[in-house]
Amino acid sequence: MGSVRTEAGLEAAARRLRDADRVLALTGAGVSAESGVPTFRGPEGLWRQFRPEDLATPEAFERDPRLVWEWYAWRRERIAPLEPNAAHRALAALESRTVEFLLATQNVDGLHAVAGNRRLVELHGSLWRVRCTGCRKLREDRRVPLGDLPPRCACGAVLRPDVVWFGEALPEGAVGAALKAAQTAEVVLVVGTSALVYPAAALPQIAQGHGAFVVEVNPEETALTASADVSLRGRAAELVPALVEAGQ
Ligand code: APR
Repeated sequence: MGSVRTEAGLEAAARRLRDADRVLALTGAGVSAESGVPTFRGPEGLWRQFRPEDLATPEAFERDPRLVWEWYAWRRERIAPLEPNAAHRALAALESRTVEFLLATQNVDGLHAVAGNRRLVELHGSLWRVRCTGCRKLREDRRVPLGDLPPRCACGAVLRPDVVWFGEALPEGAVGAALKAAQTAEVVLVVGTSALVYPAAALPQIAQGHGAFVVEVNPEETALTASADVSLRGRAAELVPALVEAGQ
């Protein structure tokens, strides 16, 4: 049963972290909230009157690629000037001192890579990569603003964001690496996710099935809280550095 934030909870989690050679971190939009990136299901989750579920689908893109790209172009413009926060930096420090570490993020904002994480998989892709719907070419694209929407490939076909939409399969390599880490991790650190979207949300349970100690950091209760070994109630930029520091 996850205990809400107490010094005892933080100490218990830190003790596990101190003894762990194999750590899996799973992050969601909440780890980037204090960098200024809006979460999906929080008060800022809407763009115009749309929810992510309305636009982040192959059907929405098929129906109106320009509208879907207006949403992604807005997110890219909003996120481009933002910096990693103390939680991102603490997770990069944790990677640098952990023998076997993987950061599996659901975020597409690219901030973990900017903070220095390298053993990183982007389960839901990246806002900063585009894929051609015709010739399938994949490339980094950091143009802000993007220019005419929808953007087109040199081959003439429409480009799409290289992100995973509802109903689409996650990138095989990323899922494989995350599952492998979940099967061997001693500690799983789950930061800033509502734990509602699968298969990412299954990773903590899979790890717990192999004996991992699951620590959640979130200002609110989530679908994971009841099963977490410790649930620290608070903001990522405050608690993740405190936990990584105490877990040295
Ligand atoms: N620190 C930590 N957690 C926070 C903070 C903060 N400062 N602010 C908000 N949160 C928490 C919220 O309480 C919530 O539990 O972050 C979580 C954000 O949840 P969602 O908005 O559902 O985002 P996420 O869990 O990443 O969504 C998963 O759903 O829309 C799809 O593909 C999209 O990757 C996304 C996936």
